[in-house]
Amino acid sequence: GGLGVSGRLAAVDGLRHASPTDAVDWEDLGFSCEHVAKTQMFVVTATLSQDGSGQWEWAEEGIGPYRCLELDPSAQVLNYGQSIFEGMKAQRTTDGNLVLFRPEENASRMRDGAARMSMAPPPKDLFLRAVKATVAANAEFVPPNGKGSLYLRPILLGTGAILGLGPAPSYTFLVYCSPVGAYFKGGQLTPIRLKVEEEEHRAAPGGTGNTKCAGNYSPVLNVQLQAKAQGFNDVLYLDAVENKYVEEVSSCNIFAVFGNKIVTPSLGTILPGVTRRSIIDLARSKGFEVEEAPLSIEEVLKADEVFTTGTAVVLSPVGYIEHGAEKREYGGYDVALALYDSLTGIQQQTLEDPFDWVVQV
Ligand code: COI
Repeated sequence: GGLGVSGRLAAVDGLRHASPTDAVDWEDLGFSCEHVAKTQMFVVTATLSQDGSGQWEWAEEGIGPYRCLELDPSAQVLNYGQSIFEGMKAQRTTDGNLVLFRPEENASRMRDGAARMSMAPPPKDLFLRAVKATVAANAEFVPPNGKGSLYLRPILLGTGAILGLGPAPSYTFLVYCSPVGAYFKGGQLTPIRLKVEEEEHRAAPGGTGNTKCAGNYSPVLNVQLQAKAQGFNDVLYLDAVENKYVEEVSSCNIFAVFGNKIVTPSLGTILPGVTRRSIIDLARSKGFEVEEAPLSIEEVLKADEVFTTGTAVVLSPVGYIEHGAEKREYGGYDVALALYDSLTGIQQQTLEDPFDWVVQV
C-alpha cells in the first residue's frame, strides 16, 4: 500500500495525513529530483470540444504513479516550446497539518501565462484540486517540520501534434512533486554571491520575461554555469534597454534595503513572484516603506542589504555582488533575516497569518 509504517501509525494517531516516510534521509535534502520516482502525480489533458464552441474539455486521469510521458515527435512543446510551469511548496506544520502558501496566486499566474502563450488555461478550481490531491497523495514525502518542504511543480505543455507554427491542438497539465531542502548550495541562510551579467539579457520589453515559460530558464544557463564555475551562486540580470537597472536573478527576484526603505524592481519584464509580492506586503506591515521602482545596479551596490526571494529560494541574503571591476561585500542581514523569520513563520504556521495566505490541504 501507499502508506509506510509511519503512515499507518499516523492514521492510528488520528492525524489526517501520513507522517514522513523512513525511506528518505530528511537531514540531507537538497533541491533535486532524487526521490521523484517514488511519488504520485496528477495528470489531466485538454482537448477542444467537438461541438465547435471553442471550449476546452479537461479529461482527468487524476493521481497515479510518477511516470514518463509519451510524446509525439511533432508535439508542439518539443518543436515550438509551449511550456509553462509553477513552483509551490507544501509544508508540514508542528501540529502535523499539511499546508500550502497562496496557491490561488499560482493558479492565476498559470492562467495568465497560458493566455500569453496561446495555451489552454487550466480552470482555477482544477488547478487547486490537482495541487491539493498531489500533496495528499504524497503526504509521506512532506518533510518533517523544519527539515524542508514538498516542492510542487505544476506544468502545462502543448502536447498535441502540429507541424506549421501554431498552438497545440491539445494540452497536458500535470503536477509532480519532490521533497526539497535549501535551493542554493551552502544552506538556506548562507549569504549568496551574485555576478552581474553585462552582455546577455534575460528579457526585453514586450517579451515573455513576466511569464513563467520554460523558454526563460535555459538561455540563462551559459552565463550561469560560467559564474558557478567562478564560485558564484547565480547571475543578476540587467535591463535590455539601458543595461543599467537590475531585473532579477535567474531563479529569484531581488530587493535592496536602504535604511527604512526597501526597493524592488517594478513588474514588466520580470517574473511576478508570489514570494516577492508577499515580502512587499510583509515589509509594509512591519513599517518599512516599500517601493516597486527601477533600481539601478549602482544603487544596489550602495545598499545596506540585498536579498533575493522565490518559492524555491525562499529568501536568501546576498553577501557579495560583482559588476565588472566593482565588487561589494555586504555585512548586514538584519532586515533579510527578520523578513525570512516572518515569512517562514507564517508559511509553517508558527506565527499568526494576518493576510490569510495559508491554505490547509
Ligand atoms: C521557483 O522558485 O519555484 C522556481 O520555479 C524557480 C526555479 C528556477 C527553481
